Amino acid sequence: MRKLIEDAIRQIDDMRALDGICGKAAGLVNRATQPELIKNTLSGTWLGHALHPVLTDLPIGAFVMASALDATAGRAGATAARRLIGLGVLTTVPTALSGACDWSDTYGPTQRVGFVHGAGNAAATMLQAASWLARKRGRHGTGVALSTVSLGLTVCTAYLGGHLSYVRGIGVNHTAFQEPVTDWTDVASLSELSEGSLHRVTAGGVPVVLAVKDAKVYALSATCTHEGGPLDEGKIVDGDCIQCPWHGSVFRLEDGAVERGPASVEEPSWEVKVDSGRVFIRSATAS
Ligand code: FES
Repeated sequence: MRKLIEDAIRQIDDMRALDGICGKAAGLVNRATQPELIKNTLSGTWLGHALHPVLTDLPIGAFVMASALDATAGRAGATAARRLIGLGVLTTVPTALSGACDWSDTYGPTQRVGFVHGAGNAAATMLQAASWLARKRGRHGTGVALSTVSLGLTVCTAYLGGHLSYVRGIGVNHTAFQEPVTDWTDVASLSELSEGSLHRVTAGGVPVVLAVKDAKVYALSATCTHEGGPLDEGKIVDGDCIQCPWHGSVFRLEDGAVERGPASVEEPSWEVKVDSGRVFIRSATAS
């Protein structure tokens, strides 16, 4: 079973024929989500972690409950099941929008798997919408059959969604496993740093970016929480923030707070002290 699934995913990985449509669709989504409010809303920047996995519970929960009613209550539960399906179809809209926003920042094989995940979910939703219509017109048996097929498809697409998160790390905090460094660590000479530029150092094995702004030294972990982009290759923007070079997330130098998504988790920040011309840092959580 496991081998079968792994082979199927490998085949999707190799479907280079999807790249044309993936590139166009991702470009469209990227343009549509360019405004900061839209990007932050759909990415979950306001929530503290990705929004998409939260929303997926709504349609999946509604569809599963509708099928449970079909199986256990028959026609007695027909009205409730139809309402659940209607609710499920409606809630696929924000769910799909947040998923598309996350997907638009992926590349290569991961983007292909994400595309199949999204296309499968679109097909499953259309089947549920057809089921709702059939039930509304009194064709209960057809509605149940359509919902059942749709749910089977949803199980497959949900597997792909889980694979994207738990195997490929899409939507997870890429600094989650960084251990706090509690001791003050000598990382650089103050004379090596210059106003407005970024400087990569390492403390306790953790990459850290140093920035000097208005003669004050700031330090943030250099691995972007979004997808691991190198913040030290980014740039200082808006006077007191750093922008990731990969997908443009913006973090405040002062405390690592996310000013603009797609990142939804703040960047770990570090305390800084300068002593005898040397720069020392430790994790902000260490004090
Ligand atoms: S890696 Fe995506 S914004 Fe930094």
